[in-house]
Amino acid sequence: MVNVEWAALADGNIAEIADLARRCMVRDGGLRATTSPGFLARRYAGAGVTAVGAFGDGELLACGAVRPMKAASAIAALVDPAHRGRGLGSSLLDRLLDVAKRQSERLQVETESLTQEAHELFLSRGLRQTFAEDVCRCDLTRPLSQIPLPQGIRLEEWTANNQGAFYEAYQASFADRPGFPGWSQEQWIDWLVDDEFLPQCSLVARTADGTPAGFVACAEGFLVQVGSIPEWRRGGLGRALAATAMERMRRHGDTEVFLDINVNNPASAALFQRLGFSVIARRARYEPLANGERSQVSSPVT
Ligand SMILES: CC(C)(COP(=O)(O)OP(=O)(O)OC[C@H]1O[C@@H](n2cnc3c(N)ncnc32)[C@H](O)[C@@H]1OP(=O)(O)O)[C@@H](O)C(=O)NCCC(=O)NCCS
Repeated sequence: MVNVEWAALADGNIAEIADLARRCMVRDGGLRATTSPGFLARRYAGAGVTAVGAFGDGELLACGAVRPMKAASAIAALVDPAHRGRGLGSSLLDRLLDVAKRQSERLQVETESLTQEAHELFLSRGLRQTFAEDVCRCDLTRPLSQIPLPQGIRLEEWTANNQGAFYEAYQASFADRPGFPGWSQEQWIDWLVDDEFLPQCSLVARTADGTPAGFVACAEGFLVQVGSIPEWRRGGLGRALAATAMERMRRHGDTEVFLDINVNNPASAALFQRLGFSVIARRARYEPLANGERSQVSSPVT
């Protein structure tokens, strides 16, 4: 058995953390982007971050960090699949919880690829799951099925002149989702449009009189949002919007497309499963139980 030594980590350890993240991804699944040095540096290095690693024979076997966020401290951690089941994860989590509790009144534990063991560990430390979404992937190298638009509907690409129609469709289709943020058009566009946004694959659906009925928004390799306004649901609009956007992404050169589906959204899960997506990981967040609250008995890991 390897002797384990704990040490503080710094910016110079990011390459080792990236290697560890890749070993974890092979076992647990997840997005390649979550193993990139840039993604990891935002969690394991920088101002106000406390990062710690467990080394055995000079190799990084586990690491974790507490980083300050606006109103809470966030904890992230990784344990090498070849060294699980020997207490490294629980010892790491206990250290990180101690740091986080000293730093902030609120804390959250995040994972990009939840495992059953991690879920049980979090519950055993008085945490509860407050957010979970499945990361899904679809291969775009295979032929995609042609899906006709509902009658009377036409599609328009994103331009400088029709963003109001996109926002109208977004608001009307997402207003009934739990946790709908109620953003202004400016806030939503600010959230949606960055260097990776694909205007040519983002479409608004309009009825014959021009009223927005639905939309789809895409970024490089990602289908970010799709929505149908309630009056147009279950008529094939959501499926047609998603399929048209995927075909455009394929023509743009993408060979695969990813998306996130909240576990509380069975309509979306059914839609994308039928379009050929499969779940590759579950992202999740846990927070301490409120006073008097009981721990979950079930274990919601797919
Ligand atoms: C999810 C959503 C986009 C579906 O749009 P839609 O226009 O109703 O979808 P479609 O009519 O094309 O349905 C396609 C398939 O999705 C599934 N589906 C859609 N709504 C469903 C529901 N309420 N329950 C179960 N399955 C559902 C079905 O498999 C359906 O096929 P079927 O009608 O042949 O059974 C729509 O419900 C919506 O806008 N929801 C709010 C926003 C949202 O959650 N977006 C997805 C996350 S980004």
